Amino acid sequence: MKEHKKTTVYDWPTRIFHWLFAFLFLGAYLIVEIVDDDNPLFTLHMMAGLTIGFMLVLRIIWGFVGTTYARFSSFKLHPIEFMRYLKDAIVKKTKRYLGHNPASSYAAIIMYICAAGLALTGVMMTGGGESDFYEETHELLATIFLITVIAHVGGIIFHHVKHRDSLWSSMFDGKKKALPEKTGITNSKRFAGMLFLILTLTWSGYLYSTYDSTNQTINLFGQELTLGEEEHEEHESVYEGEAHEEENDED
Ligand code: HEM
Ligand code: HEM
Repeated sequence: MKEHKKTTVYDWPTRIFHWLFAFLFLGAYLIVEIVDDDNPLFTLHMMAGLTIGFMLVLRIIWGFVGTTYARFSSFKLHPIEFMRYLKDAIVKKTKRYLGHNPASSYAAIIMYICAAGLALTGVMMTGGGESDFYEETHELLATIFLITVIAHVGGIIFHHVKHRDSLWSSMFDGKKKALPEKTGITNSKRFAGMLFLILTLTWSGYLYSTYDSTNQTINLFGQELTLGEEEHEEHESVYEGEAHEEENDED
């Protein structure tokens, strides 16, 4: 069988971002499924979310200064091209793209927006802001995020079944099947990838160093983020209520 030539398209920072982003999203999601929000383990949910927020800042910078296919200018966001891509995906073979195809370009943008919104609403509701609005928005964004992830992974599996061009592995080795009229990248930015990893680890270390296990708080640049405040308040008011009843009984 003829070996198809492959070329490098995704640099190290993009790939490291991708897998940390996926891992932390799944981690944050899993934690809320298994523990209560006043459980000490929930701190890991906050830390994962805040680390996603930090990585997003780095990814946005990289989207302007990174290699060709990491740049937002290479994303295929034209609505007509997107509709044609979806139609072709169903009725025939889709056009091949060296960088992000229209479906993954849209999915990436939706995921970035949801992640930014989740970090922001997470900080607002744990930082003592008006909680109901932030909580509902947080929940809505998490649901949109999850649906997008399912569509993204489903789309990659569907693409693989149809094309067998190992698109799925491009976020591992950075390589895609070459296209005659397009060139890949010549430098995969290993050093920038390492820097990305070091900065992200330093950020998580900083978050962890501010964790106060007695009060279940994280300190984000002087802003105290408290866990399960509502539940604590609810418990307090229940106990207060009981205390009042006891006082009345004594009377
Ligand atoms: C929680 C799970 C996942 C999340 C949150 C996620 C998120 C993303 C994001 C944000 C991008 C855009 C990357 C960029 O910033 O440039 C992307 C692209 C991509 N992802 Fe994922 N991903 C997930 C799972 C997977 C899995 C399981 C695979 C395959 C094994 C995969 C393969 C890819 C590929 C191949 C692309 C580039 C698509 C293209 O070239 O058009 N992803 N993903
Ligand atoms: C990508 C990042 C994040 C994801 C995917 C995510 C996802 C979720 C989900 C699915 C829930 C459960 C919603 C419900 O059904 O009530 C939740 C709740 C919560 N999240 Fe996040 N979250 C993220 C980031 C954050 C951050 C950065 C913080 C805080 C700094 C945070 C704090 C909380 C809190 C306190 C709750 C409990 C709210 C309640 O009592 O209902 N989250 N999150």
